[in-house]
Amino acid sequence: MFKIDVNNVNGKTESLYVYGEQSILTELEEHSILISHSCRQGHCGSCILQLLKGDVLHQDCLVPLSHGEILACQAKPITDIEIGSRD
Ligand code: FES
Repeated sequence: MFKIDVNNVNGKTESLYVYGEQSILTELEEHSILISHSCRQGHCGSCILQLLKGDVLHQDCLVPLSHGEILACQAKPITDIEIGSRD
């Protein structure tokens, strides 16, 4: 199990415990933390979050990301992580 520390994403700061099998977007939704998204397929970039700690694995990612950015719809945690909103 991995811990996702949510640091002020859509006004929420809390810790989620997940198996790492679902995308971070889905995990957030299941905990009523709603972030903007559109395609859910790694194309649009509307779900970008900031990775503050830890590592994730991306599946399809067709959006250029800056250092520390992740696509919530395509990323799954592979360690404990901390995420925040994009600046
Ligand atoms: S929702 Fe489109 S890239 Fe994540």
